[in-house]
Amino acid sequence: MEELTMQQIVAFCKNRGFVFPGSEIYGGFANTWDFGPLGVELKNNIKRAWWKTFVQEDASTYGVDAAILMNPRVWEASGHVQSFGDPKMDCKVCKQRFRADTLVENHSKNTVAAEAMTNEELEKYIDENNIKCPNCGNKDWTSIRKFNPMFTTSRQMIGDEKDVVYLRPETCQGEYINFMNVQRTMRAKVPFAIAQIGKSFRNEITPGNFLFRTVEFEQMELQKFCKEEDGMPTYDDYKKRALDFVKDVIGLDADKLRYHDHDKLAHYAKAACDIQFKFPIGWQELNGIHHRGVWDLSRHQEYSGKSMLYTDPFTNEKILPNIIEYSIGADRLFLATLCNAYKTEELENGETRVVLKLKPQLAPFKVAVLPLQKNLNEKATEVFASLQKEFNCDFDDSGSIGKRYRRHDEIGTPFCVTIDFDTLEDNSVTVRDRDTMEQVRIKIEDLKQYVMDKLN
Ligand code: GAP
Repeated sequence: MEELTMQQIVAFCKNRGFVFPGSEIYGGFANTWDFGPLGVELKNNIKRAWWKTFVQEDASTYGVDAAILMNPRVWEASGHVQSFGDPKMDCKVCKQRFRADTLVENHSKNTVAAEAMTNEELEKYIDENNIKCPNCGNKDWTSIRKFNPMFTTSRQMIGDEKDVVYLRPETCQGEYINFMNVQRTMRAKVPFAIAQIGKSFRNEITPGNFLFRTVEFEQMELQKFCKEEDGMPTYDDYKKRALDFVKDVIGLDADKLRYHDHDKLAHYAKAACDIQFKFPIGWQELNGIHHRGVWDLSRHQEYSGKSMLYTDPFTNEKILPNIIEYSIGADRLFLATLCNAYKTEELENGETRVVLKLKPQLAPFKVAVLPLQKNLNEKATEVFASLQKEFNCDFDDSGSIGKRYRRHDEIGTPFCVTIDFDTLEDNSVTVRDRDTMEQVRIKIEDLKQYVMDKLN
């Protein structure tokens, strides 16, 4: 079978109602995408699965939904405002971003005072010394830009520069700044975690590759607050839990997943690791797990002037907890899920079918109700109405039954329920399984339970 390409996935998403280009009728708006009727179901199911795994099933994790617009001091404490002046350049091949002065320092083994160089001098040095991308080994750089990844807006009440407000570039800051609120109201004892799912915005220099890197996306982030001595075991635990989630709950193939431990760490970090997925564009980051030490709470304590100290209820010791962060993009995981599930199969009769082998829990429609002929619609509508209360279902009465099966294979519907003339006699229907294409006869009264059992 030929390798799946990103173009195929983009075309599939557009034609089957998963994802449309943003603002399409106005000629589009680069790197924005609108989720269609099937896409929004799949994405919601992915987010629900993440929340269930990491919040609902973990008594020590509490959810929040923090504001997108925050006091601009948050972004001074996080370091995002200061990084505005950093000279950044992107590798055009793998789209990773680097500080140009760091590239020069590393190459020259700190014998060149890169900090004092102008952008032109940095670019010249990088060119003349043939400095390649540390990530992919290519040499195809964008020019240097002083780059603020944050979109800005304004409350326009005074209209001066102090009025600037940022659209958050990551959701985690809403978790750090609510550490004390959550701890106090939930009487939480360290170790505990705060999680949220929400929109983030980044003014990426090199967005692209469909949903892989966009300027507006959703993140699912979790911060575990723990004692210093529990930091590394907790980090290892989340590495494992993050991999188990994408493998066992989302269903990504194990041979398309790998850990990528970082050699270079931020000055405050104790460890960092990505889980990479083999996308059609190659191995790329799917999510990150970071051991951030006490950096975030200490910065917010310093910038807000409010204590972030946690009092141990047993020893009365006051500590600033360490943070282990687990962060994954919902849109990037959506893309990985589709790429992983999209299969072209040869059938015994020589025909081929496209089938989206999604985990049934993630499928946009769980059941399609298909009357064999239009004069069976009344009975079919009855069955549809009873199932619709439990599951997201589709009613499809157009085209041959074979075509309708193919249509639902392609969008990942795990069960097709066919109403035929025998149904009127025996109150039974045929249920066809998407993956095996096997068919079983089920009493209508048992149908709901049958689907439920399969989904569970
Ligand atoms: N709070 C830590 C943080 O934001 P990150 O590695 O920058 O870390 C975490 O982002 C995850 O968010 C990534 O692993 C990826 O899944 C997703 N992500 C980041 N930037 C993205 C973008 N421009 N478009 C889509 N997803 C993105």
